[in-house]
Amino acid sequence: MPKVENRGQPLVYLETYGCQMNIADSELIGGILRRAGYGDAARPEDADVILINTCAIREHAEERVLGRLTDLARLKRRRPGLRLGLLGCMAQHNRAHLTQRAPYLDLVAGPDSYRRLPEFLGRGGFDPIVDVRLDRNETYAGLASAHEPGPRAYVTVMRGCDRFCTFCVVPYVRGRERSVAPEAVLEQCRELAGRGVKEVVLLGQTVNAYRAGEVDFGRLLRMIAQIDGIERIRFTSPHPCDMSDAVIEAMATEPKVQPYLHLPVQSGSDRMLAAMERGYSVAEYLDLVNRLRRAVPQLALSTDIIVGFHGEEPDDFAATLGLMREVGFDAAFTFKYSVREHTRAFKLGDTVSEEEKARRLSALIELQESIAAARNQAEIGRIREVLVEGPARRGAGMLSGKTPQFKTAAFPARANPGDLIAVRIVAATSHSLTAVPA
Ligand code: SAH
Ligand code: SF4
Ligand code: F3S
Repeated sequence: MPKVENRGQPLVYLETYGCQMNIADSELIGGILRRAGYGDAARPEDADVILINTCAIREHAEERVLGRLTDLARLKRRRPGLRLGLLGCMAQHNRAHLTQRAPYLDLVAGPDSYRRLPEFLGRGGFDPIVDVRLDRNETYAGLASAHEPGPRAYVTVMRGCDRFCTFCVVPYVRGRERSVAPEAVLEQCRELAGRGVKEVVLLGQTVNAYRAGEVDFGRLLRMIAQIDGIERIRFTSPHPCDMSDAVIEAMATEPKVQPYLHLPVQSGSDRMLAAMERGYSVAEYLDLVNRLRRAVPQLALSTDIIVGFHGEEPDDFAATLGLMREVGFDAAFTFKYSVREHTRAFKLGDTVSEEEKARRLSALIELQESIAAARNQAEIGRIREVLVEGPARRGAGMLSGKTPQFKTAAFPARANPGDLIAVRIVAATSHSLTAVPA
């Protein structure tokens, strides 16, 4: 292990788990700490402060973090001056228990406590600092983030969630829904455009529920589309119930809004959707998909599905497979139900065995693979515009970028990250496309 020199500037190593909102929060935290005089450490071994931004959505996510913390605690034993902090959704979910389970933690801070991080880290003392108060008003508006370089950037436009789906911990760990003022969103997008960002991804747990005064989500999309330099706009995750005509209309008529939607359905059984309190039926979801496809003919769709929720019977699961076939999603993120403390379904417990959940999950994945392969095969021969990101993983002079439908394409071309170029799709698998310059 290299000796840590005294550079004068304390170095922070920040590791992130969970969804895009957590990635965006880590960029925000990076910005806050940079302004407070901290530098970046590329590895935990080089850091004076190690922060882990965590996810609480499933038990597995928490177990991964606890395992990682045990590793990092070893570094701390070797260097007692090192400070170890746990941030994000797990901090909120597990509250003070964490300092018992992981007694080496110096800091536990929830998603609404990041402004105070420099203050917390500046404090000495032996007792860990725990700050997990949720703040109805915290939107972090106007705080500049340390964005990863690249042509795409995340912009958090709303925080929290008010839907309380019975399986989900998010409303408890992220608090009430609140929207960032449109002026602050526009300012951030302009600033990103000035730095060469071409594509913004607007984030929120129910992003299309955005509302700030007179400005709803459809209006916000149109306002951002006015910004020169921003060529593409995406957003995630919209909730089916908040998919208003105004949003569909903006997708249909505003060319910068890309023809791709991640529209979580969770189940294809009305009985399960009711037990989850998702707020829509299968027929309503299918009707929404039809309206979207009529308005945006080139639309690609992805979704989230939970298998083995409390009370899910073979018939319910068969209905989910049926829905998958009927919609033909371009991609699906599939999860085994994980009982979460604090949620409304917690006390109901688990009725589907782990083995049965695993069996349902693999059946779902197998079906989805074949559907995705067919959807991608249908791209062959088409000309698509890609936003160049950089070298493709498969190497050999290939570049990689996303099509408007958010499909990854690899192509041989001379171009720079941020260039928009037209390619012709020549081959496809269930996960990616191969293309040549058109
Ligand atoms: N706000 C988004 C979802 C955010 S969580 C929405 O409403 O669609 C991301 C995904 O994790 C969810 O869509 C769901 O499929 C999954 N998920 C949430 N809670 C879960 C749990 N307790 N067990 C398994 N999967 C869960
Ligand atoms: Fe969770 Fe439902 Fe809110 Fe999505 S809408 S974050 S699934 S409670
Ligand atoms: Fe996980 Fe928190 Fe996101 S629980 S999914 S990191 S909002």
